[in-house]
Amino acid sequence: MAEQNKLEKIVALCKRRGFIFPGSEIYGGLRGTWDYGPLGTELKFNLKQSWWEYMVHNRENVFGMNASILMNPKVWEASGHVESFTDPLIECKTCNERFRADKSEDIREHEEAHAKKKEKIEWTEPKQFNILVEAKLGVVEGEKTTVFLRGEITQGVHVNFKNIIDSMHPKIPFGLAQIGKAFRNEITPRNFIFRSREFEQMELQTYVKPDESIATDMFNEMKELRLNWYLGLGMNKDKLRFREHEPDERAHYARAAWDIEYETPWGWDEAEGIHHRGDWDLSRHAQFSGQDLSYLDPETNERFVPWVIETSAGVERPLLYFLLDAYCEEKDPTKDGASRIVLKLHPKLAPYKVAVFPLLKNKPELVEKAREIYKELKKHFNVAWDDRGNIGKRYFSQDEIGTPYCVTVDFDTLEKEGDTVTIRDRDTMKQERISVSELKSFIQKSLEQ
Ligand code: GAP
Repeated sequence: MAEQNKLEKIVALCKRRGFIFPGSEIYGGLRGTWDYGPLGTELKFNLKQSWWEYMVHNRENVFGMNASILMNPKVWEASGHVESFTDPLIECKTCNERFRADKSEDIREHEEAHAKKKEKIEWTEPKQFNILVEAKLGVVEGEKTTVFLRGEITQGVHVNFKNIIDSMHPKIPFGLAQIGKAFRNEITPRNFIFRSREFEQMELQTYVKPDESIATDMFNEMKELRLNWYLGLGMNKDKLRFREHEPDERAHYARAAWDIEYETPWGWDEAEGIHHRGDWDLSRHAQFSGQDLSYLDPETNERFVPWVIETSAGVERPLLYFLLDAYCEEKDPTKDGASRIVLKLHPKLAPYKVAVFPLLKNKPELVEKAREIYKELKKHFNVAWDDRGNIGKRYFSQDEIGTPYCVTVDFDTLEKEGDTVTIRDRDTMKQERISVSELKSFIQKSLEQ
């Protein structure tokens, strides 16, 4: 399967099976926005939950935050975003379409499109375009305040540094984690959900003593930690790599920056970044707010402004990469020459953990037993119910959305002695009989791997 073709197939599958739809589609859409349907919502929730467990609950001295999206506009002056959150913009003089000057793939495609029509093309000189999204807040026309929808979720954490110190008394090094929406007026949204204008981020800001060797150790620890998150969720390690940013690529706040990249159908591209932000954020907010944002080390009695090592991941990019990694088309050996589409998602990410079927829907005793098992499992997992078509079609349908197990209730299940069901594994397609009482722990085990 050609790789670009794979992206198109995933876009189609996401629409067909209720994962992701174009935003406001019935009105012709809104470029760079996407709506998550029932299965996409579950997948996204599972991804965020896995990140939170891994980065917050499983680690010591890490606390959660949930700051407002709307903030005092001074925040964005202090953070440097009003001045420096820019991308280089160029305009095609032939058709006035605008592009990012640093994205050669987009430019090449556009030049090729004009060349096909035998049109000569000229570009304007690059100019810096600020990608913060503005909104108006207030109820009196003419007196409304211009605010910004946050361009990164980070600042909501740093402006609460003092509140966290005063309420939680954390011992340095400590981390503040947050997941939430961010907005960017991207010049060219593209590649499905890869570059959107509204997206979510999952970030951990770790505050360390202002010491280069401590900061380097934390930076390396974070690189390893973040890579292992992808591997732990089953991502192919050959598709992942680190790339260090060149000095002229780094954001205005970064002293050092490394990306984790994934090999996408359009080449290696960013999944997330690990950044050494130094004391940029706290010092600037201290300067602009007039507040003391230093830390008093209770052990040494030293007072200092901590440095920050940040891990900043989108939600949508990893989500897309997990879909790309999981998507397979393969021959179904149980059917002559037929092929199946299967999403080999880690059970933790799969929207449904298991599907339950009665073998025949016109046999009330089978349906009743299957409903009983379905309801019991539903207390613990997200479970699908399906009684349409034949069993083969139901397997096909569940494979395509990544359900790791299918449980079929048949006449043997009704035998008093037996009380067993068939459980079929999505990836191996093997079926085995297990007792109904073992089902919960069987599925639970797959989630713990
Ligand atoms: N706080 C640091 C920060 O925001 P970033 O490299 O600009 O750093 C972090 O963004 C991550 O957010 C990216 O690695 C990517 O996963 C995601 N991201 C950034 N812009 C995005 C966009 N337009 N659409 C989808 N995800 C985006």
